[in-house]
Amino acid sequence: MSAPRIVGLVGNPRPQSRTHSLARTLTREIARVLGSAWVTEVDLAPFGPRVLDPSDAAVTAAVDQIIGADVLVVASPTYKAAYSGLLKGFLDRFGTGSLAGAAAVPVLLGGAHNHRLAVDVHFTPLLLELGAAVPARGLFVLEAEVEDFGPFAAAWADAHAPALLAGSGAHAESLVTT
Ligand SMILES: Cc1cc2nc3c(=O)[nH]c(=O)nc-3n(C[C@H](O)[C@H](O)[C@H](O)COP(=O)(O)O)c2cc1C
Repeated sequence: MSAPRIVGLVGNPRPQSRTHSLARTLTREIARVLGSAWVTEVDLAPFGPRVLDPSDAAVTAAVDQIIGADVLVVASPTYKAAYSGLLKGFLDRFGTGSLAGAAAVPVLLGGAHNHRLAVDVHFTPLLLELGAAVPARGLFVLEAEVEDFGPFAAAWADAHAPALLAGSGAHAESLVTT
């Protein structure tokens, strides 16, 4: 079986954001547990409004990179009790069901404790609509919790990364080839 392809997608309009560092930390921890060196990331910040331009070759390449993933960490700041408009604009380029074969983890970073459920209520349905499996509850990280995210992500990956692999096309492929 080839190594699972693990991709972090970051939907913060600001480059090198804390949201980005959460995605990077979690993808690395998932890769550690799954024993995969195939880890990459797509940060939407440099694209900005170009995510809305269907002829933009770099954005199209980013779409293809996401579609090829086995495990996706999709991270966004919480804006208005949901994910960012930048992320939605980018994901609107994907056909319904186009993420079939990928297992996704939605991650929201936010400042308001009472928006904790936004990740499960708003973010997970978007990923399901695109065809991804979402085997575990989404992660809502408060700004006050960012500093402690490293150990949390390590423990989360230990507990959930095997279920991510089982929900992905990489697992189906291994069932066919064994
Ligand atoms: C336009 C805007 C809207 C926001 N709306 C919310 C919100 O509804 N709920 C919440 O918890 N945080 C909200 N926040 C706070 C951001 O979620 C938080 O500052 C962000 O996740 C920090 O991530 P970053 O450091 O990666 O930019 C909002 C921030 C901005 C700029």
